[in-house]
Amino acid sequence: MTTTQVGIVGAGPAGLMLSHLLHRAGIESVLIEQRDRAYVEARVRAGVLEQGTVDLLVHTGVADRMLREGLVHHGVNLQFHGVRTRIALSDLTGGRAITVYGQQEVVKDLIAARLQAGGEVVFEASEVSVADIDADHPLIRYGHDGQSVELRCDVIAGCDGFHGICRPAIPAGVLRVYERSYPFGWLGVLADVAPSTDELIYSFHDRGFAMHSLRTPQISRLYLQVDPLDDINNWPDERIWSELQTRLHSPGWSLVEGPVLEKGITPMRGFVVEPMQFGRLFLAGDAAHIVPPTGAKGLNLAIADVRILADALIEWYASGTRSALDAYSTACLYRVWRVQEFSAMMTNLMHRHDDRDPFVHKLQRAQQDYLRSSHAMQQSLAENYVGLEMAHA
Ligand code: PHB
Repeated sequence: MTTTQVGIVGAGPAGLMLSHLLHRAGIESVLIEQRDRAYVEARVRAGVLEQGTVDLLVHTGVADRMLREGLVHHGVNLQFHGVRTRIALSDLTGGRAITVYGQQEVVKDLIAARLQAGGEVVFEASEVSVADIDADHPLIRYGHDGQSVELRCDVIAGCDGFHGICRPAIPAGVLRVYERSYPFGWLGVLADVAPSTDELIYSFHDRGFAMHSLRTPQISRLYLQVDPLDDINNWPDERIWSELQTRLHSPGWSLVEGPVLEKGITPMRGFVVEPMQFGRLFLAGDAAHIVPPTGAKGLNLAIADVRILADALIEWYASGTRSALDAYSTACLYRVWRVQEFSAMMTNLMHRHDDRDPFVHKLQRAQQDYLRSSHAMQQSLAENYVGLEMAHA
């Protein structure tokens, strides 16, 4: 039997950042991860960091590489029917910006920081389970190097993603699930070619949504709206590029093609459980909620959760009062629903709806026209996109 203060399941951005924040406050944690380190570090995910996420990385000393290699963007482009409108993020938000830096780069930096500080990260843990989550000392069980391990904790943080084991460990009837499946999938492409744009382009086209994003000055990240049930084998590289050419086309601009390094299709969903805690188990990040990627919020939301959780744990260890821990879920959900609403708005605005009802298409067109012409709507979009500062309820 081993013990720690906070047992953390999942070494994605949420689990790693939580462990890092706790360490800085003198609280010990152990991170349990099913995958190996190489897998976790190579997992291609989102790439947009909100200003608040960037600030947290900077203030907690894990931003050296991000500050060198991350690309600060002061605007994004929204394109409708071939006409591009630049949303001047920084001008509209008093100077806030986004930073383009791959999620797996954040993960690499956090793993390096944790290991350098002597933190315990157990990779390749098998058969991970949690028990006694409503008792004073919950337990994480797992196998490692052929041994069965029991880790007694004061609390457990479930940072193990949508398909993780923590959420299902909460007894039936406790959680209320809110769910929406969007009839869209994203085909994501990582391409070995210099981006054809300095700033992200979100494009609505009659054939469906497309996006041009980037990772580095040499690597582009592109997306196409596809049927969520479509098979990636239906998408040879030539078809992907041809579709991107059509959907991103804008007069006087051209898209440069290059070798495809990686591609895959992801369905889109909105998902929230309430509350995000039970007894001594606290869920954070995708374990508790999923947003469609159109708002670029998943990673940022996960980081916002663990920031709140770390503060609550620090207060609990310092004073013995549980009030902040008890309020964890409420504090997080305020932002979670704000972000669900923003992500749903962006998703509906930018995707082709196969709805037969012409009213739906007219409403979408009206909103696109309004966004193009209204400073107020652009400002609203910008403040959500760079990330709201929110005092938690
Ligand atoms: C990405 O670069 O992967 C990305 C950017 C913006 C989004 C989603 C994904 O909204």
